Amino acid sequence: MPAKVVVGVQWGDEGKGKIIDILSSRADVVVRSQGGNNAGHTVESGGEIYKLRLIPSGILYKNTYCAIGCGVVLDPGSILKEISELKQRKVSFDRFFIDPRVHVVMPWHLLLDDAAEKFRGKYNIGTTKRGIGPCYMDKSERSGIRMFDLINPEIFRSKAKIVGNFKNNLLAKVYGEKPLDIERIICEYIEYGKQLKPFVKDVSVKVYEEYCKGKEILFEGAQGTLLDLDVGTYPFVTSSNPISGGVCTGTGIGPTMIDEVIGVAKAYSTRVGQGPFPTEIFGQTSEFIRKKGDEFGTNTGRARRVGWFDSVIARHAVRTNGLTSLAINKLDTLSGIEKLKVCSSYQTKDGKIIYDFPCSFEELEDLTPIYEELPGFDEDIGQCRNYSDLPEACRKYISRLENLCKCRINMIGVGPARSQNIER
Ligand code: IMP
Ligand code: MG
Repeated sequence: MPAKVVVGVQWGDEGKGKIIDILSSRADVVVRSQGGNNAGHTVESGGEIYKLRLIPSGILYKNTYCAIGCGVVLDPGSILKEISELKQRKVSFDRFFIDPRVHVVMPWHLLLDDAAEKFRGKYNIGTTKRGIGPCYMDKSERSGIRMFDLINPEIFRSKAKIVGNFKNNLLAKVYGEKPLDIERIICEYIEYGKQLKPFVKDVSVKVYEEYCKGKEILFEGAQGTLLDLDVGTYPFVTSSNPISGGVCTGTGIGPTMIDEVIGVAKAYSTRVGQGPFPTEIFGQTSEFIRKKGDEFGTNTGRARRVGWFDSVIARHAVRTNGLTSLAINKLDTLSGIEKLKVCSSYQTKDGKIIYDFPCSFEELEDLTPIYEELPGFDEDIGQCRNYSDLPEACRKYISRLENLCKCRINMIGVGPARSQNIER
């Protein structure tokens, strides 16, 4: 049985939730391996809408194991709220695990996220302010608090005291913020630890066991390739590795276990937060897409920036993730636009054409996207279930994307519902 990875091709919000949901219904284990509650997946299932933050989409299936791997950062208050909301909707947590190596997002991380953003001034990243960056900083710096600590009150207390006092100094003396009541935080978090303890289990061991039994494993990516700490638009990125390689370090499995890597992209582009966006558009068409595609953050409600499909970025994603196929979402959103544009390459100031995504935002600011224009379509494609049902202009668009991306497109999304999907 194969192990599949689903990753975002662009800046997140590509509709991975829906693809993951379709694939989850066939998987035995669904695993998250990076990020935290900065992510937000909207899943429509059984006519109901679920907005998931940290819990893998597989949770909606009774027989699927769901796991949060060691590369994730977890805000205990936030996940407990998510669990209780889902339980109220009769979702079972009998097969849900959190790795003991998972790092815990502490209240000082949230404050430091906010303070650092203010400090950055015009170079602010536009983070989700969920404490993600500061939590990963502590992990790399080796002073983080992990799930193992959280569920062992004595260990937690002694570590949290030392770290908490240090953070209070940082908050007060560097950022001029009010110090936190560390004792109160310790008591609150020990309580969280008690509630989360039943879920804590070695995810690397569990996933490997299931894999060896021939079960189907699905690794659910959060964010997207261009938000990757290493290959994304640094520094306007998140602090983890959303590319497929992050699955190995973030779960504790080896690369030889992965058979398929599916990249999810939208038929156009969006981005939230700051940073370069070569094919960004403004005005009427962008507002049309934002409104029709409901391009507002699942989690934060922020209006997303909108642009044309960028095949330079898609090729970057094909290479850095080793994509075996692409899923193109929200093709239906483009219905009603007369002419569709697709970026094939970039032109530098001195007229050079480049096909590979550059490493710095300074370079990106000086580039002009080169567009191809394709005929648009007016039809409502929400009912199409076979590739041949699509209007000719849609098929031309998809086939051109395939050629430009140098990757097979196996899925096409034509609406938000799980059933509104074409598989080839
Ligand atoms: P952070 O992950 O909160 O540190 O934010 C860093 C950057 O990643 C910001 O530009 C965020 O808007 C972006 N980001 C983080 N998570 C997501 C996501 O799930 N979807 C889209 N953008 C995200
Ligand atoms: Mg999202």
